[in-house]
Amino acid sequence: MSHCFDYADKRVVITGAYSGVGAALLEVLAELGRPEVIVLDIKQPDGPIAQFIETDMGKASSVESAISAIDAPIDVLFNNAGIAATNPVEDVMAVNWLGLRQLSEGLLPKIREGGAIANTASIAGGQWPGHLQEVLECIAIGGREELFGWCRDHAELVGDGYAFSKECVQVYTMKSAKHSLACRVRTNSVCPAPIDTPLLPDFNKTMTEKTMNWTIDQIGGTIATPRDIAMSLAFLGSEASRYVNGVNLNVDMGFSAFMTTGQLDFSGLA
Ligand SMILES: NC(=O)c1ccc[n+]([C@@H]2O[C@H](COP(=O)([O-])OP(=O)(O)OC[C@H]3O[C@@H](n4cnc5c(N)ncnc54)[C@H](O)[C@@H]3O)[C@@H](O)[C@H]2O)c1
Repeated sequence: MSHCFDYADKRVVITGAYSGVGAALLEVLAELGRPEVIVLDIKQPDGPIAQFIETDMGKASSVESAISAIDAPIDVLFNNAGIAATNPVEDVMAVNWLGLRQLSEGLLPKIREGGAIANTASIAGGQWPGHLQEVLECIAIGGREELFGWCRDHAELVGDGYAFSKECVQVYTMKSAKHSLACRVRTNSVCPAPIDTPLLPDFNKTMTEKTMNWTIDQIGGTIATPRDIAMSLAFLGSEASRYVNGVNLNVDMGFSAFMTTGQLDFSGLA
């Protein structure tokens, strides 16, 4: 019998499903009805998938080939692939932001009415209200080289690229939700706190282990599992969220809420 989280008979595309959140999403979707899954990644996953398209989300030509190789109709696009700032800024912006936008725009015409796009952003991208105009200006830039030039001109704001790339994803999620709605496709994101995945050691390097541990400490001491995040992604792609659009869903055990209401204890960071 069908239910509102049912993925049976659906066709979904997932980027970054070799490890971490994406690999957990493969398992969650298998439990929710075994949809037909097409994976775009630089590494081929072991999980239950129908099609693997080797794709470097940081390369426009690779993303373009993947778009051409995917047949319509699709029900849900999960833009999940991401890299840490142990990589150069331009690579981080290319994979986390440019590739995501290119794939979303390229696949939107192939997504069925009633379908959804669910992005994996981060709470690291939650500081956009302090400079929304700059983020809007940045995400309006179409060309790659122009974007990289803009990033060089705004080096202080862009920093190592990770948090800023996720700010772009959060603001784009809200902005593009209007355009996708015209095609009857919802666009949302999950914004996770630290997750126990192969990316974590990279974040410990770029954001310091002390900050990562402090963040986890503020939310009860238990780090998110990849499955915790995958279940929220599955919700955003399902019928259960059919009236949810343009939302950046914090999946962070309250970290953002505690920050907004002044309940974080910064003494451990001193
Ligand atoms: N781990 C965390 O603490 C954390 C916190 C917040 C958000 N996130 C976000 O969660 C998402 C998933 O990351 P994860 O933590 O599961 O890490 P992960 O490294 O396990 O997963 C990333 C996936 O992306 C793939 N990938 C890497 N570069 C790629 C490229 N150029 N093209 C295509 N695929 C590529 C990897 O092969 C892998 O399957 C990312 O967008 C990340 O930014 C992670």
